[in-house]
Amino acid sequence: MASIITLLCMGVCVYAWGITTADDNPIPRAENVHWTSLDFTTILTWTVKPSDYTYTVLYAMDDGDWTESPDCSQISESVCDLTEHLKPLDRIYHADIKTEPAAAASVDYTREFPHTYSLQFNPYRESNISAVFFTLEDEDESTVIVNITDPVTSIHEHGKQLSIRDILKKDLKYKISYCKSGSTRKRDIVSDSSRTKILGLDAGQSYCIMVAAFIPSRPKATQQGAWSTQLCTEGHTNILQELSLGAWIGAVFILLIVLIIIITVTVLCCRCHQRNEHLQNSQSSAPV
Ligand SMILES: *[C@@H]1O[C@H](CO)[C@@H](O)[C@H](O)[C@H]1NC(C)=O
Ligand SMILES: *[C@@H]1O[C@H](CO)[C@@H](O)[C@H](O)[C@H]1NC(C)=O
Repeated sequence: MASIITLLCMGVCVYAWGITTADDNPIPRAENVHWTSLDFTTILTWTVKPSDYTYTVLYAMDDGDWTESPDCSQISESVCDLTEHLKPLDRIYHADIKTEPAAAASVDYTREFPHTYSLQFNPYRESNISAVFFTLEDEDESTVIVNITDPVTSIHEHGKQLSIRDILKKDLKYKISYCKSGSTRKRDIVSDSSRTKILGLDAGQSYCIMVAAFIPSRPKATQQGAWSTQLCTEGHTNILQELSLGAWIGAVFILLIVLIIIITVTVLCCRCHQRNEHLQNSQSSAPV
């Protein structure tokens, strides 16, 4: 029994020794390779153990040939902006990060240099959309106009900076969520255009409104952009609606009193007048 345990121990020791010598001076590989994309600016990031090695990024479209990124060749950073190379946007891209010796290093070329593949990425379908800015304009008592500014991207075409509308075209909708201020009952509408009306609002009420880009043609997880900050309408409150019941009763009471006074005064005046006339008449008819 004891000999078996000794043998097992020796086996473990030999195995452990084998591991330590093989990993004595490991060449680091890129780890946690991750796509980050906002408004179609797409960046590849990864983590590395500190070392003298550099990294070169290659990319491929639709399982095509690998191309080396000119901006990310033998870099020591662990981030690479691939926005300019991922065109057309609505394709599937892969990236591969190769570890390479620093240019000046003496290299043992008998050793294999590791590399790490990224997951696939489609910028058109997976890029996050940032929160939008918008303004509100009152059209009439029950209608408010929502005017949304399409976020701009870092992509240029023919010298023009493209907005997300230029890229997504008809696929871009906006989700508009609104509720009476103070209430939590939200209503959502989806608009095809960047300028839209909310109809059927209660006159004089203040409403609070939020907007997010919405792309129903995308997979569920990436359909909706970030919510904007909330804007509220003023709700030009009519003074007559603002009055409480007590105030109404008070006002009616005062009106009644004023009316009674007017009637009384009128009646009294009329009587005086009539009496005067009567007097005058009797005087004039009297014989001189
Ligand atoms: C999009 O945003 C979500 C939530 O913030 C994040 O988890 C995801 O990694 C982002 N995707 C890209 C491609 O940047
Ligand atoms: C909508 O807002 C944009 C700026 O965000 C502005 O340039 C444009 O004139 C507005 N549209 C109207 C009709 O007011």
